Amino acid sequence: PLLPLLRTLGAAAAGAAAAILWRRWRERRAQRLGLNVTTDAAKGLVWTCIGGALQASQLFLGDKLGLYASMKHLCEKKDSGFTVIDLAASTGLHVRWLREWCAQQAAMGVLVLLDGEGDDDADLCYILPAAFAEVLADPTSSNYDIAMIQAVPSLLARARDSIPEAFRTGLGMPYDDENIASAIDRQHTVSIRHFVIPKLLPSIADGHVLAKLESGARVADLGCGGGNLLIEMAHRFPFSEFHGYEVSDVAIEHAKKAIAAAALRNAHVHDARKAGGSIDSTPARFDLILTYDVLHDAPQPQELMIAARRALAPHGVWLIADIKCADGVRANMRDGAAKTYWAFSTCLCMASALSEPNGKGLGTLGFSP
Ligand SMILES: C[S@@+](CC[C@H](N)C(=O)[O-])C[C@H]1O[C@@H](n2cnc3c(N)ncnc32)[C@H](O)[C@@H]1O
Repeated sequence: PLLPLLRTLGAAAAGAAAAILWRRWRERRAQRLGLNVTTDAAKGLVWTCIGGALQASQLFLGDKLGLYASMKHLCEKKDSGFTVIDLAASTGLHVRWLREWCAQQAAMGVLVLLDGEGDDDADLCYILPAAFAEVLADPTSSNYDIAMIQAVPSLLARARDSIPEAFRTGLGMPYDDENIASAIDRQHTVSIRHFVIPKLLPSIADGHVLAKLESGARVADLGCGGGNLLIEMAHRFPFSEFHGYEVSDVAIEHAKKAIAAAALRNAHVHDARKAGGSIDSTPARFDLILTYDVLHDAPQPQELMIAARRALAPHGVWLIADIKCADGVRANMRDGAAKTYWAFSTCLCMASALSEPNGKGLGTLGFSP
């Protein structure tokens, strides 16, 4: 009579042990995957993003209104810092608005509020530290790194106005936005001046590309944007001829104006849509072809690559610069910057790569080597 009882007890014990093991496995899995995140941590992440976006709006204002340049200038003139009264006098802007903005910049860590007594405008002295002056207000420095802030309001406006519909239809939109074109132009000018021209070009093909550019080369810049690379290179290599190709009306207009302002005769911009979709169809025309941060944005990257290959002279060089990424979601997830790259992608890069029906839609992290 004991046997059935023992069997029942054994089964119950085994069941209890299995339940404990199952619960432990689930706990460990939740821990490993981060599924047991607390609501406080979830709220923290949301508010970090909201705070970041709002702080970005103030960086945007500082850049747009020339406040960083003015503050840099004021700090160079006297070590004792400046007040909002000084800043108002040098910019012609209203003291009340500057008071709010400077306090925010100090709270954010861009400005330093000097020790002292009193809370009136004349009592509050600020300093813009040298590192921030360089990053925010010195376009000649290799550390100048504020330009992309110019694109942020446009990207947020896209998220509000047009991207929700793109999620429904599948169709994105091209790069046509003056602030976005200008932001990318300013940002890339830094790397072109400090890296591409002085370091990268001399290192290609044992210096042959540089020698050819010095003596006279034909160069195509596919997806030339606002014309930064064309302009910098046309200045540096006056015996060479530079042709930019673009599909964005805004970028074409921006590049044409910049080339005219620089009075360059060896730089030209073409509408890539008129040149059969990408580039002048004359074969073997170019000694150097550049696609600088373009292939992952192009709706038909394969066609662009075929056209580029055809247009390349027999000993020509094609310089492809693109976003460094891995193949696939899991591998890219390991990159801490992926959260920003994927945000760029929905609002800009993938939107451009899906701006035509049947667009390939590679996106920011979509062109892995
Ligand atoms: C990230 S921006 C880079 C612009 C420029 N190369 C620079 O570095 O500043 C990418 C540019 O590629 C252009 N683009 C995309 N597809 C293109 C195509 N098929 N032909 C020419 N330009 C294209 C976009 O309009 C956009 O201006």
